[in-house]
Amino acid sequence: MIDNIRVDYDGLIPNNVGLNSDDRVKKALETWHPGYIDWWMDMGPEGFQQALVYLRTAVSVDTGGWARFDYVRMPEYKWGILLAPQVEGRKVPFGANKGEPAWQEVPGEHRAMLRRLIVIQGDTEPASVEQQRHLGKTAPSLYDMRNLFQVNVEEGRHLWAMVYLLHKYFGKDGREEAEELLRRRAGDKDTPRMLGAFNEETPDWLSFFLFTFFTDRDGKMQLEALAQSGFDPLSRTCRFMLTEEAHHMFVGETGVGRIVQRTCEAMVEAGIEDPHEVDRIRALGVVDLPTIQKKANLHFSLTLDLFGSEVSTNAANAFHAGVKGRYREDKLDDDHTLEDSTYPVLRFIDGRIASADVPALSGLNMRLRDDYLTDCLKGIERWNRVIAKSGIDFKLRLPSVAFNRQIGEFKGLHVDLDGNLISAEAWTRGRDSMLPSSGDRAFIEHLMSRPVMEAGKFASWIAPPRVGIDNRPGDFEYVKLAG
Ligand SMILES: [Fe+2]
Ligand SMILES: [Fe+2]
Repeated sequence: MIDNIRVDYDGLIPNNVGLNSDDRVKKALETWHPGYIDWWMDMGPEGFQQALVYLRTAVSVDTGGWARFDYVRMPEYKWGILLAPQVEGRKVPFGANKGEPAWQEVPGEHRAMLRRLIVIQGDTEPASVEQQRHLGKTAPSLYDMRNLFQVNVEEGRHLWAMVYLLHKYFGKDGREEAEELLRRRAGDKDTPRMLGAFNEETPDWLSFFLFTFFTDRDGKMQLEALAQSGFDPLSRTCRFMLTEEAHHMFVGETGVGRIVQRTCEAMVEAGIEDPHEVDRIRALGVVDLPTIQKKANLHFSLTLDLFGSEVSTNAANAFHAGVKGRYREDKLDDDHTLEDSTYPVLRFIDGRIASADVPALSGLNMRLRDDYLTDCLKGIERWNRVIAKSGIDFKLRLPSVAFNRQIGEFKGLHVDLDGNLISAEAWTRGRDSMLPSSGDRAFIEHLMSRPVMEAGKFASWIAPPRVGIDNRPGDFEYVKLAG
């Protein structure tokens, strides 16, 4: 019997899937491993591969106490294969096969669909590491640098998670897909990553925090939907990935929150009440709130494109097949087949943006996106409480879902932040008040260009965290730089 709670650290590849008694997959993964390390050395955090980083590593997959903290050089991080424990008697929870025992092998008729979903998920993981690889050099503190690297090594592990499924369940074409995952590169014009938002730049730390807040949260929603899958190994792997993803949400939300807090403190100290006095506020060495809003508008709209088309046959098929469910499907109280229900979706019809009922199966991408919006709003509320507490009259918000879209119903339309259709001319005129202008970008780049690498110190534009990682004190040396 394999112990599927504790992690086996005996071989090259830590795991709780009994890899030592599975020669075929063990060999395939050991063959893939050097390519992965090469990729990490080429595309992982630049300039910090030799630094000692205070990282957590999973030692078991149960809910309490799965992590051990220690100083690790990132290339020596114990990446491995961790699945949440198998649930005895688990059934396919939704779709046409609802109630059948959950599949322990890939059902032939859903093979292509499952492989595609796993590859798309897998592709996003290394992509974000590539997008973030230069950020260590401008970290606002060792605390933040450590959090960045923790996110990076865990995204690396998420790649391992998907590659394990490909190697174990998809034979030769699975192995080929696993190779391709190491070959594509974020932003490369010949071999780009598969999804748009994962080819954008993450040039500064505000972008990084907004990316982890908005884009990692899309990842969370996708993992939640896949955690419901009738294909049990996929469900189990996603359930464990979600425990890691929670930290990425934390980094994003508290990162933006600390920037907001510092801005408000500086404004209050300087006696500035009007948040739109941009020049005076910037002169204090902090980011003005309207610029944070514009950056949020950008990251939010890029991330919405990841949810796919408003009306989608792929989404309908994946649900019908029992392969990809809804957010917290197991907590929902309905028939879990959705054959006869409808869902309201915002569409562009007859020159107007309006809500229309579509078959619930075709509207599943939007249902997931609506759950995503609710999740985002909770974080934004917390940022707004920080602003309100300082007595500053400003509220961060989400723009309309039709704003600045490249995919789906609203692609190519000129829509303002409130969801009104506007002329091309009005769009061009208003663009710099809705999205970061070149001036905004230059300001942020300059403000955030100098790293702070002294333990316990923080850049001028961000407040310290309320508590340390692993309850460490404020002046803890989270990263010991090499040399
Ligand atoms: Fe991930
Ligand atoms: Fe993540």
